[in-house]
Amino acid sequence: MDMPELPNYIDLWFVDPDTVDNAAIQQITRGLLSADELAQSNRFRFPILRRDYLITRWLVRTILSERLSVPGQALHFAANRYGRPYLPSFPDLSFNISHTSRLIVLAVAAEVEVGVDVEHIQTDRATPNLAEYSFAVSERAALRSVAPNNFDHAFFSYWTLKESYVKALGTGLSTALDSFSFSLEQPATISFTSDTVDPTPPHFWLLQPSSTHLCAICVRRWSQQLLLRAWTVVSLTSRVPTNVIVLRRSTFS
Ligand SMILES: CC(C)(COP(=O)(O)OP(=O)(O)OC[C@H]1O[C@@H](n2cnc3c(N)ncnc32)[C@H](O)[C@@H]1OP(=O)(O)O)[C@@H](O)C(=O)NCCC(=O)NCCS
Repeated sequence: MDMPELPNYIDLWFVDPDTVDNAAIQQITRGLLSADELAQSNRFRFPILRRDYLITRWLVRTILSERLSVPGQALHFAANRYGRPYLPSFPDLSFNISHTSRLIVLAVAAEVEVGVDVEHIQTDRATPNLAEYSFAVSERAALRSVAPNNFDHAFFSYWTLKESYVKALGTGLSTALDSFSFSLEQPATISFTSDTVDPTPPHFWLLQPSSTHLCAICVRRWSQQLLLRAWTVVSLTSRVPTNVIVLRRSTFS
């Protein structure tokens, strides 16, 4: 008899850094961060960037330490040649980070490769020129027909999806953004086409974590048992289970 496949979860953790008290950050990160991370934190000229860096490091070390039952300060991170961080001692655990104005997101999943990208629609740059320069032909055509008041939302839908894919691949912007494309013509769905055959076809979600943010998740090695769960971390002390609005997701194939 076939055993039913157990659900596998992609866990998402959201933090609005503006809700975090500076004194709490100092207290919580003390003893947790590595010497390199502390040195890096002191190199930021702008206090907000330093704050966001410290919160991100706290979030990653705290959540991964709980997941792996390893003390946070004992986690050793490495980065691939394109800068994607990973844990050499735990190759089956995939995690990815994205930060923008007023939101930091951590995605964690086992036995799949996960990529996440979040953008703040009001402060990040949505420009037709950037789309014309870097998007695929079909995406440029779709964006040209979008009404001006919907342009930012449409642009960042494509942008976050594209970034989530190159982050799941781990290659970042070394992968040409016009070598693969998304179609968002059908409501609530995402269809993906690539110039190269991916042996682990990707699956995508487009989320709206707040009225001003768009967030895309990509997983490679998708199965129907893969489910999203999300929490909001409040003041770095408590976690609230969160129903994130799913605007679109890949069609089943
Ligand atoms: C990783 C990359 C693809 C995305 O970066 P980004 O959108 O600027 O920033 P994000 O906040 O979404 O992601 C940064 C995180 O991705 C992770 N990352 C870095 N390189 C990565 C890679 N090759 N693959 C996957 N993840 C990577 C890191 O954890 C990094 O956070 P950290 O430095 O705090 O650890 C990067 O290659 C890049 O350079 N992007 C340029 C983005 C740009 O031009 N944006 C214009 C906005 S419209």
